[in-house]
Amino acid sequence: MYRTHTCGELRIGQVNDVVSLAGWVQTVRKFGAITFVDLRDRYGITQLLFGEDLNGALDANPLGREFVLQIKGKVQERSSKNANIPTGEIEINVNDFVILNKSAVPPFTIQDDTDGGDDLRMKYRYLDLRRNAVKKNLELRYAVNRSARNYLHENNFMDIETPFLIKSTPEGARDFVVPSRMNPGQFYALPQSPQTFKQLLMVSGYDRYYQIVKCFRDEDLRADRQPEFTQIDCEMAFVEQEDILNMFEGLVKRVFKDVKNIDYTEQVERMTWEDAMWQFGNDKPDIRFGMNLSNLKSAFSNGGKITSTGELINGAGFGVFDNAETVLAIAAPGCAEYTRKQTDELTEWVKRPQIGMQGLVYIKCNADGTYKSSVDKFYSEEKLKAIADSAGAVAGDLVLILAGREERTRKAISDLRLEMGKRLGLRNADEYKLLWVMDFPLFEYAEEDNRWVARHHPFTSPKPDHIEVMINNNPLIENADKYLEHPYSNIKANAYDMVLNGNEIGGGSIRIYQRPLQEKMFAALGMTEEEALHKFGFLLGAFEYGAPPHGGIAFGFDRLCSILGGSESIRDFIAFPKNNSGRDVMLDAPSAIDDKQFDELQIKLNLK
Ligand code: AMO
Repeated sequence: MYRTHTCGELRIGQVNDVVSLAGWVQTVRKFGAITFVDLRDRYGITQLLFGEDLNGALDANPLGREFVLQIKGKVQERSSKNANIPTGEIEINVNDFVILNKSAVPPFTIQDDTDGGDDLRMKYRYLDLRRNAVKKNLELRYAVNRSARNYLHENNFMDIETPFLIKSTPEGARDFVVPSRMNPGQFYALPQSPQTFKQLLMVSGYDRYYQIVKCFRDEDLRADRQPEFTQIDCEMAFVEQEDILNMFEGLVKRVFKDVKNIDYTEQVERMTWEDAMWQFGNDKPDIRFGMNLSNLKSAFSNGGKITSTGELINGAGFGVFDNAETVLAIAAPGCAEYTRKQTDELTEWVKRPQIGMQGLVYIKCNADGTYKSSVDKFYSEEKLKAIADSAGAVAGDLVLILAGREERTRKAISDLRLEMGKRLGLRNADEYKLLWVMDFPLFEYAEEDNRWVARHHPFTSPKPDHIEVMINNNPLIENADKYLEHPYSNIKANAYDMVLNGNEIGGGSIRIYQRPLQEKMFAALGMTEEEALHKFGFLLGAFEYGAPPHGGIAFGFDRLCSILGGSESIRDFIAFPKNNSGRDVMLDAPSAIDDKQFDELQIKLNLK
């Protein structure tokens, strides 16, 4: 037997017990004839004391950092206690030890605040995983996993595995493909999600399915995106949208309770996609704070009217506003006192390429009732006041205004809002605010191909009232500049996203379950009948055999963990993540393969 206890287990009540421990040497400290060693395992750290009698043995078998050590000894009370660790009142007086394995000097210190940079830690990820900080993240991940499984199990969901070697499932990214040796020239695709399989399971009668499952997407990576990531993937039959929303806000609330001991008792707020875009410029708003957007275009344009005062403000000859497609503003509370330096810095912030604006206009609503602005020379003080009023500003606020093309400006003001929220301390990591964003558009216009694409995926059903519009109108977009006037741009979907603190943690929809409507959907997306049959014949076929009404959702498991763990990067919560170029630097993957493998696959490289 290697050990009787773990390194996190022994307490003062076990003094005089004879125990054996095994673990890794964290530190070795020699004080005269006595040597102290901190022994570490997954459960904690225990101090070992090697007395004078072991000096000879230690000289013959010197210990080093990360050596694997087994000891036997007696638990004793420590003379100088360490209140910071649970085992800090005791130590083991060692009477026998065995070095089970030596270790090379590790390339970085295995400590919370390690000296290892990101690349180095990823290269030696198996050492990085020994660090407490990383271990805590994996423990949290496992706790979320357990909690979700328990909830789903208690609610009759059944975990059913679905295959990885499949045919493409469209979730909007590129597929990773795998060549088939047995079918030369043919390829499997790795699933971007188990979407079609879970729908088939509904047809098969497994009316509550879930799976905590890997998904693969070849897309540009960001802090919250990995090429392979995990979903809590769920589907239910005989449900309406309301049933799904209730069931799955229940799931997240349960995870909050089990993992963070948070009682999230209030109903999760709901917002339509349109409101989210108008009020926050963003389909995943952080609603922990206000600072909603105001549209000031009418206030600035010729003949525009400010409703709050009834005053008419004409174009003032300030081209930036007069000619802008849109003018959007937020009122930053208590920021009227910003210095010139601070407003200049904010202007530089919006000019950065990531934000891409030409400039920033501000109005200070001073506490004494005066108004000061960066565009004073174009607007009288009354007009500034009227504009500030229509931006919902009060005394002490700083109105920040951006103008330009609609889409870019909306995105920029939304980013600025989040930045101001951060700077003003309104985005507290310990506060959790969930939101359902609903009624997404069914279609999006893809400029490059002049056609419609599915906003969520092609299996999402239109709102019942919008089905007629879809069936009765030709999807053809005759005038690309006026795609917004096409009836399809107003069709809304029975689709919903769950947003947590400004992050999309899950998304799903009520599905189409009748063949004719699904066929119409494929046609709307520009697929010919043959293409639809070739790609999705199996699903259309299944819909012929009694498909029940169904719907579902998938949560981004890694994202949920990272937010609960207070980190922006999902990599910290994945045991073996990829870097931002999609590489596993430990394995050095992806990498070239042998000529023999190419021969077997009958593939010849033609690198360009
Ligand atoms: P969707 O594509 O919205 O829906 O994905 C669901 C959730 O998965 C997370 N996510 C990611 N996490 C890490 N890295 C990525 N590359 C990544 N991409 C997505 C997000 C997202 O909300 N089949 C549908 C679900 C359904 O309709 O039931 C789907 O996959 O948190």
